[in-house]
Amino acid sequence: MKLEGKTVVITGGNRGIGLQLVRQLLSRGNTVFATARQPSKADELQKLVDGSSGQLTVLQLDVASPESVEKWAAALKARTPHVDLLVNNSGVRDEWSGLEEVTAADMLHCFQTNAIGPLLVTQQLHKQRLLGSGSGGGSLMGSIDDNGSGSDYAYRASKAALNIVNKSLSIDLAGEGITCVLLHPGYVVTDMTGGRGLIDTKTCVAGLLKVLEKEEEAINGRWFDYKGQEVPW
Ligand SMILES: NC(=O)c1ccc[n+]([C@@H]2O[C@H](COP(=O)([O-])OP(=O)(O)OC[C@H]3O[C@@H](n4cnc5c(N)ncnc54)[C@H](OP(=O)(O)O)[C@@H]3O)[C@@H](O)[C@H]2O)c1
Repeated sequence: MKLEGKTVVITGGNRGIGLQLVRQLLSRGNTVFATARQPSKADELQKLVDGSSGQLTVLQLDVASPESVEKWAAALKARTPHVDLLVNNSGVRDEWSGLEEVTAADMLHCFQTNAIGPLLVTQQLHKQRLLGSGSGGGSLMGSIDDNGSGSDYAYRASKAALNIVNKSLSIDLAGEGITCVLLHPGYVVTDMTGGRGLIDTKTCVAGLLKVLEKEEEAINGRWFDYKGQEVPW
């Protein structure tokens, strides 16, 4: 899809990869609706709002709360008649969930945010007749083929669940012309990785936007990394 002139929703737009997505899409002239759990504390986003001449709107959203998702979707509907691209970027990775440490609460926390959240966000936009194209916030950590180091139970399991959610969405929404693709951003320097990583958010987001603009092949229901390489399930 050509991103030019498109209206884009980005969840978790206040920091990390989400914030960089907002920056790059604004600089391309897109209309952007970003979400934050605490908009009043989202200083970087608010600065972008001030300089955006109405191109950027920030709305409150906690994807782990079904009530918040429903309220947010209604608020969005009141502001725009359609959304061309939804980026389900919000995600959590608990400090450490090795075999000795992982708890039921860790598992539920990651599932609520990383798998159920993106599903409910997509569901609500669909119910509001807003959805033009979906996109899950994938992670290589959700790959069973790629799991060579074990551990990280909560995060890995929740991202693997997101994969199957996206696959079903890609089938259910295909008839409406909606594309649902999983994206692995790479190992990116953000708060989630404790400042470690192989690439910065600029490189990551430039790559992800290129994948979304791929025209030479159908991307629906598939999984790509920021370099455009297909990721093994
Ligand atoms: N960084 C990597 O190497 C990497 C690799 C693979 C996949 N990913 C995925 O890429 C996405 C972005 O990661 P990141 O590295 O940019 O992480 P990050 O810097 O930790 O940012 C996470 C974002 O998600 C938001 N968020 C967390 N829980 C939320 C909730 N319940 N409702 C709404 N928003 C919530 C955070 O908001 P608050 O500020 O309010 O907490 C923040 O905006 C995640 O889905 C992550 O799993 C990242």
